[in-house]
Amino acid sequence: MRAVDIIEKKRNGLELTNEEIKFLINGYTNGDIPDYQMSAFTMAVYFQGMNDNEATNLALAMLHSGDELNLDMIEGVKVDKHSTGGVGDKTSLVLAPLVASLGINFAKMSGRGLGHTGGTLDKLESIPGFNISLTDDEFIEQLKKIHLAIIGQTVNLAPADKKLYSLRDVTATVDSIPLIASSIMSKKLASGANAICLDVKVGSGAFMKNIDSARKLAKLMVAIGNKCNRHMTAVLTNMDEPLGFAVGNSVEVLEAINTLNGNGPKDLLELCLTLGAYLVIDSNLASTVSEAKDLLRKQIENKEGLNKLAEMVNAQGGDSSYIFNPAKFVLGKNVIEIKSQNKGYVSKIDALAIGHAAMLVGAGREKITDTINPRVGVVLNKKVGDYVNENETLATLYSDGNNEKEAIEMIKKAYSYADFEIEPKLILEIIR
Ligand code: URA
Repeated sequence: MRAVDIIEKKRNGLELTNEEIKFLINGYTNGDIPDYQMSAFTMAVYFQGMNDNEATNLALAMLHSGDELNLDMIEGVKVDKHSTGGVGDKTSLVLAPLVASLGINFAKMSGRGLGHTGGTLDKLESIPGFNISLTDDEFIEQLKKIHLAIIGQTVNLAPADKKLYSLRDVTATVDSIPLIASSIMSKKLASGANAICLDVKVGSGAFMKNIDSARKLAKLMVAIGNKCNRHMTAVLTNMDEPLGFAVGNSVEVLEAINTLNGNGPKDLLELCLTLGAYLVIDSNLASTVSEAKDLLRKQIENKEGLNKLAEMVNAQGGDSSYIFNPAKFVLGKNVIEIKSQNKGYVSKIDALAIGHAAMLVGAGREKITDTINPRVGVVLNKKVGDYVNENETLATLYSDGNNEKEAIEMIKKAYSYADFEIEPKLILEIIR
């Protein structure tokens, strides 16, 4: 077999066999196939696409390039959730403890934030002492004991994907649906869960800017997971405004705690109940969505979700008193209220711009080596659908003095207005 023939076959729009895909991925991982041939291949896929079989074989070839986490020794269903990346997305901090408090194993390997999107690990690290680096054995032991662990990647998951993703990043081939689907699913399949819920974001702050491409991506990821015997759900959600009010690290943990205390933003709660409901159904604890949502709501009312978050923080070395006494979180020393210069109904809040503003003041990273300041961030006072008068507070910036002016301008410009009422819609579609 020769790489050039496989590239030519894909360039001409023909279907690749499993052997051909494995040959390319194995050769690329061990260095036999050079970057320039792989670049040509990814560009051919970008233009010609891949069918479900090819994308599944690509995901599996990348999965088999590294280690797989075996969670079979943990009794019961193991669930996981993945978001394609948004702004203000603290869903895992609420969803995981809520679901785990029902006795369902929530085994999550998370990532760090980059650019305008935040990362669950950075948010958790704003809790003093919280340790995201457990060994595989510690991860499994914790899951057996408390049904919940959120950690950074330990095992060498899908190294072929890591190498290929870096190449795509510099060859304008990131935004190819089969390449994104196989990349995400190679890592999700390697993490060992039986039931996976995907939150596919659509809108200005997301990879997928429109519903048609988001639907295609979601369907393909569900198909790949199903072919590998996983229970799959994909929820398409609107990212035309940040999720909830808070964008940053400590501010997002505070919002997650409020939500588990029953005082969360409507959109965040709705998303957690929806994603959670399918994981509860896949764990055979309910047969309908409304029954599953009722179970989850009860875990908020009786504080079991909050207690489970504290239990996880404790188990991973963090100071769980912050969960019960969130006033302990120290926020940025400059608290700046950003006022509206317009009046009308908020019609859109550019999530990308808000994420960027938060990054500028230090809540996110421009480069992977940048450090995060957990104290800073943005808290929106107005969301889509709210009426705003001139000079009313749109958002509050918590800062320690970095790039404040630029961030304030960005936040002001992120708001669009209309002179008619607007009903925001968060959940756009569900694919099972
Ligand atoms: N996230 C991934 O893990 N892979 C992609 O290709 C895009 C987003």
